[in-house]
Amino acid sequence: MNARNPETKFGRAVRGLWQLDPNGVFLNHGSFGACPTEVQAAQDAIRRRMEAQPDVFFRREIQPDNPASTIRAAAARIAKLVGCSGDDLAFVENATSGVQAAMNSIDFKPGDRILVTDHGYNAVRLMVEARCRETGAEPLVVAIPVPTTPDGAAQRIADAVTPAVRLAIVDHITSPTGIVLPLDRIVPSLRRHGALVFVDGAHGVGQVALDLPAIGADWYVSNAHKWLFAPKGSAFLYASKEAAARTRPIVVSHYVESGFPRSFDYVGTRDNSSWLAVPAAIDFFERLGPAALHAYQAQLIDKATELMASVGAEPIASRDMSAAMRSFLLDWKGEATRETARAFLGRLWDEERIQVAAMAFEGRMLLRVSAQAYVDEEDLVRLRDVMARKGRTGA
Ligand SMILES: Cc1ncc(COP(=O)(O)O)c(C=O)c1O
Repeated sequence: MNARNPETKFGRAVRGLWQLDPNGVFLNHGSFGACPTEVQAAQDAIRRRMEAQPDVFFRREIQPDNPASTIRAAAARIAKLVGCSGDDLAFVENATSGVQAAMNSIDFKPGDRILVTDHGYNAVRLMVEARCRETGAEPLVVAIPVPTTPDGAAQRIADAVTPAVRLAIVDHITSPTGIVLPLDRIVPSLRRHGALVFVDGAHGVGQVALDLPAIGADWYVSNAHKWLFAPKGSAFLYASKEAAARTRPIVVSHYVESGFPRSFDYVGTRDNSSWLAVPAAIDFFERLGPAALHAYQAQLIDKATELMASVGAEPIASRDMSAAMRSFLLDWKGEATRETARAFLGRLWDEERIQVAAMAFEGRMLLRVSAQAYVDEEDLVRLRDVMARKGRTGA
């Protein structure tokens, strides 16, 4: 890492630490993350250890009742970063699995409502619908029209919640719209009505500083493979002490009686190397320097906002609602649909070698820019130039 000159610590100076295609502009860290080479190497070493002596690895090293379990040690390391104890965290494959585990742990009854917002992740919405079909509960979708502000978003949720809401699932940082929701106001307003609260923080860890107990939710899930630089397939589920007592893994296996979190640690034979590589990812993140990284990301987001304004694209929410991602409504001709968004994205990569996130939201075309350490202002200028040509019709 080029840390000699803090001015050149990010952007082009560090891009070589990732395996990203050198011929592309990569502005979509938010969807799948990008794992640095050194963290991949740490994962490879773990896999070699696993394959060198599978019995020792599975029967000893990672057993939940082994006081020296490397899974528990990795959980303790990530817990330190998010203000809780390792015993409050279980590793899961991804945010999707964490939401499902919590939802399966609640015995919903007919008449119960599950509150979500229209900024939530599509798979989570589908999961809620499926759980409602199984139990007779009903979804309650709260609309947060855009452009929005922290007051506007918090008020919409406070106005919608009723005592029938058994569970509320609220994003910390929303997926398509990339906005940081004001949890300090939303969580207490849900609690007042007795709702269980699940925070979908898929984009949280690494993008914003976290103190999980202080958020006051029952559960918080976050992907380490997005903004913390861990390998794909590493996420954690936090449960408060009360929620932990009811939280069960999706798959029942040998340690199901051990309770949360150990019942999640060993669920049959699987490749746990991405979880065990989380400490290497945290080392990388801490060496980049979270404060300097977040300041650099904020600078990039400001630059992106200025450049996007020059092509008529308007931010979807006030500046205090973005961290390292910001979404813009393009000056798009006609109605945007899932298909046009997909075609637009395809052309951006195939013809321009720019990867960004684009989706239809309320019939408008939304572009989400992710600012990561390896992004350079030059990349944003290139995006602006391409949007000046393609940003109205995609062609
Ligand atoms: C808010 C939110 N929830 C859940 C997910 C799902 O994450 P994963 O695919 O890792 O399960 C995402 C993915 O981007 C997301 O943005």
